[in-house]
Amino acid sequence: MEKGKMNSAMPCILNRRSVRAYTSEEVSKDAIMQMLTAANWAPSGNNMQPWRFSVVMNNKELIKKVASLTVYHNWVETAPCLIAVFLDTKVLDDKVPSIYLKHAQSIGAAIQNMLLAAHGLGLGTCWIGEILKNEDKVRELLGVSDELQLMAVISVGYSSRSNLKSNRRDISENIISWL
Ligand SMILES: Cc1cc2nc3c(=O)[nH]c(=O)nc-3n(C[C@H](O)[C@H](O)[C@H](O)COP(=O)(O)O)c2cc1C
Repeated sequence: MEKGKMNSAMPCILNRRSVRAYTSEEVSKDAIMQMLTAANWAPSGNNMQPWRFSVVMNNKELIKKVASLTVYHNWVETAPCLIAVFLDTKVLDDKVPSIYLKHAQSIGAAIQNMLLAAHGLGLGTCWIGEILKNEDKVRELLGVSDELQLMAVISVGYSSRSNLKSNRRDISENIISWL
């Protein structure tokens, strides 16, 4: 795609990469609020907005404790801010699996909005799923009710590295039909 023809959202989408090493610079509350606002404006099934957020910042001790619950603790603990993202199970008014899927997809959209907003602010993030096995311990550390299901922890901070790279298969390999 020619850069001149890109719409304004594309540079943010194409240039965002997971950041797994952070400087010690603190992140402002305003920046985190912008990320959370972006998340809050994600589409959701029936506009149920099933996402809930728990922010840990300016609290190295707690960040270290949360980080210890993933195999990635070495770099997660360098982040000045962690955002735990939960699904409020009170929105699950029945136990039909497809309904659960819809709400889980909504959370994914919210997280992606958050990552893109962070990138636009010059912040780096990483979506951490590897911590989900320790959901109960994360909830306990954050003082969160068990009505909320942990969906991810997002690390946030200023990247201490440049040249982040991850690639993608060409889109032509992923389009299975165009009728
Ligand atoms: C659902 C989900 C779970 C993820 N869990 C982890 C994780 O536990 N640890 C990690 O380092 N990256 C994790 N990632 C980030 C992916 O590894 C990363 O997005 C992918 O390799 C593409 O790289 P990029 O984000 O730099 O483009 C996760 C991403 C998603 C969407």
